[in-house]
Amino acid sequence: MNERAEPGAVAPSARHLFDALPERVSIYEVGPRDGLQNEAVVLPTDRKVELIEGLVQAGIRRVEITSFVNPRWIPALADHMEVATRIRREPGVRYSALVPNMRGLDGASRAGMEEIAVFLAASQTHNRKNINKSTEEALATYRRVVTEARARGMAVRGYVSCVYGCPYEGPVPVESVVDVARALVDMGVYEVSLGDTIGVGTPRQVQFVLARLLEAGLALDQLAVHFHDTRGTALANIVVALQFGIRTIDSAIGGLGGCPYAPGASGNVATEDVVFMLQGMGVDTGVDLDALAALSVRLSGLLGRELPSKYLKAHVGHCSRLGVPV
Ligand code: HMG
Ligand code: MG
Repeated sequence: MNERAEPGAVAPSARHLFDALPERVSIYEVGPRDGLQNEAVVLPTDRKVELIEGLVQAGIRRVEITSFVNPRWIPALADHMEVATRIRREPGVRYSALVPNMRGLDGASRAGMEEIAVFLAASQTHNRKNINKSTEEALATYRRVVTEARARGMAVRGYVSCVYGCPYEGPVPVESVVDVARALVDMGVYEVSLGDTIGVGTPRQVQFVLARLLEAGLALDQLAVHFHDTRGTALANIVVALQFGIRTIDSAIGGLGGCPYAPGASGNVATEDVVFMLQGMGVDTGVDLDALAALSVRLSGLLGRELPSKYLKAHVGHCSRLGVPV
């Protein structure tokens, strides 16, 4: 299954379709943050700590653990300090947390975070609803946050959300995406994650947006992709992004997630689904799919609902047909 299939008798234009796929891809796991921020059931801190440690045991090497945002805005992550100070940190693993302003940076610093992520949308209205700032105000805030974080020795990642569409404004001009991404890189973020916050992007748009970003001077290794699977296009979009040269994929265990300030958005693409697809194409992620699925089954029980991951549904169905406990 893990062998790269020979093209065989296919149309000449399709022969080299998969030649650009990499040997290895870095998964950036957002389940404990993007996943849990929108759940009706708030997991107790102990369970969050177990989830993060379980993800690392399953082979995840980059994980966003929580958000140092105002708990009145995101009550499900109000225990950010406890989570960040209680997890056992493994060498070689990068732990990150979302930070919206200087107060968040101070919290993250006190919790010993070595990496943070700043975030804003390419749309004015989403920024107003999500962080109570205009795009310009958000960028001004982040210039200070990023400069100070780097002075404290922290690495900073950046998100541009609503890349393919905004829940309030509809289509988002690609130039707005380019401007925000460029501004983030100029202020010193090492990587920009391109968020399809409401899951409306399609493969051609992915190709178009990535091409515009490269034309604007961003490098492939400064970009990551972050798809929500609201309309079922996430895996197709990921394949296009990989063919384009992107090597970092954001995903969430179980397909959890969504932004409370982006109505209609559903979960992130599931880490299990991404890992299954990549393994099948011979692309290494370093993640143990069985361990991840077992963690996802447990998480589904804790949250008291079926999770969106398609791999998980198939896995649970397969185990129950065989009478094997999951
Ligand atoms: P604000 O109300 O404008 O803040 O919120 P403020 O500066 O006016 O302060 C008001 C109060 O909040 C004060 O407390 C501050 O101390 C407190 P009071 O004096 O009233 O008691 N405060 C804080 N408390 C704790 N931690 C902080 C903090 N900052 C201020 N960091 C703010 C502005 C940005 C804080 C607020 O809007 C907020 O927290 N927003 C976060 C919303 C959020 O996390 N949304 C989900 C993110 S997901 C996303 O954006 C998409 C992404 O996943 C990618 C994708 O999917 O595309 C990244
Ligand atoms: Mg998201």
